[in-house]
Formats: sequence, C-alpha cells, structure tokens
Amino acid sequence: MSDHQLRVSKIPRGTVIDHIRAGQALNVLAILGIDGESGETVSVGMNIPSDRMGHKDIVKVEDRELSQDEVDVLSLIAPEATINIIREYEVAEKQYLERPERVVGVLSCPNHNCITNADEPVETKFDVLDDGVRCEYCDTIVREDLAAHIAVE
Ligand code: CTP
Repeated sequence: MSDHQLRVSKIPRGTVIDHIRAGQALNVLAILGIDGESGETVSVGMNIPSDRMGHKDIVKVEDRELSQDEVDVLSLIAPEATINIIREYEVAEKQYLERPERVVGVLSCPNHNCITNADEPVETKFDVLDDGVRCEYCDTIVREDLAAHIAVE
C-alpha cells in the first residue's frame, strides 16, 4: 500500500500487533487492559484488506512493550498475530506467537466455588489444552470464548 493510502500512521515507538484475525481487535484491547481511560495513544484498524488474510485487524500502542503474560494470552485468542516492537520508527523486533503451556494471572475461572474466586490472594493458573484451557485449581475447562474470561483489572 503506498503512503497516500496508509490507513493507520506509523508510530515512533511502542508495539504494533498486526495480522489479528478480523473481529478480534476489541478482545486484544481487553487483554492489554486498554479501556480509553489510561491516556495511552492507541490506533486501531478493523477489517483492513490484507493480501494474506483477506481482512485483518491491527492495534498500535505507543510507548509500551508487552509483558510475557499479555503475549501468552494474545497467543490463545490471536495465534496468527505478529507483534512488532517499534523503536525510532523502525521495527526493532518481530515476534511470532506460539501457544503457551500455561497462562498465569490473566484469565478468570468461571467456577464460582474455585479458590481463585474466593477473597484469597491466589493468582489464576490455566493449563493450555489442544481445544481450551483447564484451571489448575479446580480442573474447570473453558473451551469457548476465552476472551470473555479475561480478568480485566
Ligand atoms: N509499523 C508502524 N510503525 C512503524 C513501523 C511499522 O506502525 N514505525 C507497522 C507497519 O504498518 C506494519 C507493522 O508495523 O503494520 C509491521 O511493519 P513491517 O515489518 O515493516 O511490515 P511488513 O513487512 O508488511 O510486516 P509482515 O512481514 O509482518 O507482514
């Protein structure tokens, strides 16, 4: 795409999450805890034409690099995404996602009786299965709509 067609500007520094499956950008924002209140500069593109994917979503967060926990959950809901770390307007690092073995502290357990839902200082831990995730404390399995179980801070 030539410069006069650029939809979302390049950013000086921060993180570009590219090749997100169309429709998942809002879930990506939820994982990153971006709700518009924290003052970060964020650009979001949805249903952008893509040679490789037909259509894709893209999220650009300025002045921020992602934690490994955030990357782990992203890889569950957007496994085809590419994470680009931008420094001085250049792509300094490009990370392709891999399925993690476990995700810690980011998903909440849907079982109300689970210890992680009691008023205890216990971090959630889920083992990643082929078709979902399993709570390490109560063995509850979540197969669908993982994004709905993101524990938003
Ligand atoms: N990007 C950005 N700001 C920059 C540099 C890059 O927003 N200063 C964005 C680009 O618009 C692109 C993504 O970061 O969406 C990756 O950039 P680049 O690796 O240059 O693009 P491609 O080669 O097309 O990436 P890929 O091979 O992953 O498709």
